[in-house]
Amino acid sequence: MLQIRNITIRPATFLSPMAGLTDSVFRRLIKRLGGCGLVMTEFTSAEGLTRNSFKSRRMLFYHEEERPVTAQLFGADPERLAEATRMVDDLGFDAIDLNLGCPAKKVVKGCGGSALLRETKLLEEILRTIRAAASIPFTIKIRAGWSETETVALQIGKMAEDIGVEAITLHPRTRVQGFSGKANWGLIAQLKAHLKIPVIGNGDIVTPEDALRMRAETGCDGVMIGRGALSNPWIFRQIFEMENGLPLTQPSISDKHQLIKAYFQLLFEEEIPGALGKMKQFASWFTHAIPFGASLRKSIYESTQESEVMERIEQFFQNALPTADCQPVVD
Ligand SMILES: Cc1cc2nc3c(=O)[nH]c(=O)nc-3n(C[C@H](O)[C@H](O)[C@H](O)COP(=O)(O)O)c2cc1C
Repeated sequence: MLQIRNITIRPATFLSPMAGLTDSVFRRLIKRLGGCGLVMTEFTSAEGLTRNSFKSRRMLFYHEEERPVTAQLFGADPERLAEATRMVDDLGFDAIDLNLGCPAKKVVKGCGGSALLRETKLLEEILRTIRAAASIPFTIKIRAGWSETETVALQIGKMAEDIGVEAITLHPRTRVQGFSGKANWGLIAQLKAHLKIPVIGNGDIVTPEDALRMRAETGCDGVMIGRGALSNPWIFRQIFEMENGLPLTQPSISDKHQLIKAYFQLLFEEEIPGALGKMKQFASWFTHAIPFGASLRKSIYESTQESEVMERIEQFFQNALPTADCQPVVD
């Protein structure tokens, strides 16, 4: 369990914000599977939000069942960020998070995301402005720094703590690294050793064992999981089970089928834009390690309508599975 002011995060596991992926539908699915303590919106532009962009506002849509839920913002203009913070506050979010890790060119060009890690003066002003504007808990999510020679996680962490930031997540890769190489968990341990506020470790957790190892090696107060939850959304529950000496959930093919159906159902209910693309993406993650999954993925990718994707999935699970179960061809 982890406490950030009035928010109880139980268990101390977080779903990473992932742009284009962790929308309200995906977050609810994760919450329903159990074991995830806190979810966060995809990063949302303060500029877009305060200029009334429909897309940005839509990103801040959430359901009560997601609570506790954090809104993540990015931007580089203190006043816009303050205004966006007040909007987030008014929308009833439990906390607000500032993205200081995004490596995307589009974002760093405007000095947002990881670019702020090398603009300490501006960052300090931004942190103070958001702190003053937010009545709810304020957290940040950072990378290690811009490059290996500019590792600033500790310096930024201390500054943030002094200003009143209430928790910090570290993905210990540099901006230059992107997603290559390995996350340097040693930096999480270092940050934890020097800060009083909760430190959440992130990066390269793909199995429940990894999560327990990160906690043991770094002493972090919580763990955040991104890509690992895409291919295995049961990972949060498995972490809880492993920590409590319970038998691990081993999702069956039928569980995966039910999950795909539940996801599609929610997408339709919410009338999410780009649903066809999301269905294809989701179905492709969840059919790995299922017998004959490759042929299903191919047929899904050739579908041109949402109903067609649905039909192909149903057909696959109803007809192919009895045979597939007898022939364990895994791909
Ligand atoms: C497709 C994708 C989108 C992402 N979008 C965001 C984002 O909106 N905000 C953010 O703070 N991090 C974002 N990240 C970074 C993740 O939150 C996380 O820090 C990173 O993937 C490392 O964790 P992992 O190894 O568990 O995936 C994104 C990562 C991916 C792969």
